[in-house]
Amino acid sequence: MGSFLSVTHRDEQLKILLVENDLESMEFFVRCFQEEYNILCATSGEEALERFQQEDDIAMVLSDQTMSGMTGVELLTHIYQKNEAVIRIIITGFLKTDDMIAAINQGRIYQFIMKPWELVQMRIVLAQASATWRLRRENQHLHEQVIIQNALLTQANQRLYASKEALRNLSISLFTAREEEQRRISMELHDELGQSLAALKMQTRIMENDFLAAAHQQQEKIKKWAAHLRESIGQIIQDVRQLSTSLSPVIIEDLGLDAALQQLVDNFSVAHGISCSFYPVSLQDITSTDGKRIVYRLVQETLNNICNHAQASHVDFSIEIGQKNIFLTLADNGKGFHVRKILARPQSQRGIGLTAMSERVKMLGGKIEIQSIINQGTTVFFTIPFDLNGQKNKK
Ligand SMILES: Nc1ncnc2c1ncn2[C@@H]1O[C@H](COP(=O)(O)OP(=O)(O)OP(=O)(O)O)[C@@H](O)[C@H]1O
Ligand SMILES: [Mg+2]
Repeated sequence: MGSFLSVTHRDEQLKILLVENDLESMEFFVRCFQEEYNILCATSGEEALERFQQEDDIAMVLSDQTMSGMTGVELLTHIYQKNEAVIRIIITGFLKTDDMIAAINQGRIYQFIMKPWELVQMRIVLAQASATWRLRRENQHLHEQVIIQNALLTQANQRLYASKEALRNLSISLFTAREEEQRRISMELHDELGQSLAALKMQTRIMENDFLAAAHQQQEKIKKWAAHLRESIGQIIQDVRQLSTSLSPVIIEDLGLDAALQQLVDNFSVAHGISCSFYPVSLQDITSTDGKRIVYRLVQETLNNICNHAQASHVDFSIEIGQKNIFLTLADNGKGFHVRKILARPQSQRGIGLTAMSERVKMLGGKIEIQSIINQGTTVFFTIPFDLNGQKNKK
């Protein structure tokens, strides 16, 4: 018999490495268990280690304690260091207390079997050891799965975070692009169309004067017609101005945010017959141009919601300047609404006003809070951090 003896090779059988320098005992073991296990044999600790190195799926190592060279306990300690999951069993006729302690502490021995062993006892030990090994393997497999799933989850979370960030950046740049575009159109309307209409109005007056020289009968007719024309053009100029202001609050650049808000509130009151108390506070040096425009939009959208949904008769609008923030509060005395219920609806089933407001507030690093009581009214609170140099909001 060579140093190693591979007795059976059946995939479904667990692999046992038997280390025994007594060939008779070895052959007896092989004869007894070769039907149930795939048994590899070695006659010394050194050879067993070599074999262990070559085979990667050994489930159990059964070793004689007394061998030339390495002892069984020493061998199983090495095996334990290489692979903790392998079941380690010592077969011995006699074991000193020191060796027994070392076997338990260092080799983490699964079982001691006394020589001469009985067939029934050995069969039971091997069956229990097989079950333990299978459980350990299953456990290890599950543990690996958990690690893999955790890694996948972490990756998925990172991707989710990245796409959220991308979405946020996209919405910021869309917002800026839209604001820019509206501002450009607004300026064109104001400067170009507004000026041309004013020139037309002038020309009409000249025409009116020229026709004064015409026949008396026609004079009155033409005069009426010209006056009517002038009135219509005047109306167009007013409409264009209003359109220009609602497209983009360029008025902020001319008059400042406080005056722009005052005008917004006045127009709102006149247009919708809802009284509004408002005492403007100077906000000129507080936010950047973008910031001012956003604040204007927030108030505009809140007033839009009041006139579209609240059925209110009065709005209290106040601005307070804190240490680090400005606080805007708009309270209406309307019918109120279930804030949570509305916000819980999918975006496709509700308007975009509140979402756009909360995006805009986020862009300024601020907060929005809505309190609403049915039949009493709704109060919207905005907290907007100062931005003295105007840099932060341009990020
Ligand atoms: N001041 C308010 N009083 C009563 N209900 C309000 C008030 N503000 C908002 N709501 C309710 O919240 C809903 C959502 O408002 P949001 O501004 O998001 O959308 P919208 O005004 O319906 O549509 P959009 O703003 O897109 O034109 C409104 O449809 C309305 O039911
Ligand atoms: Mg709205």
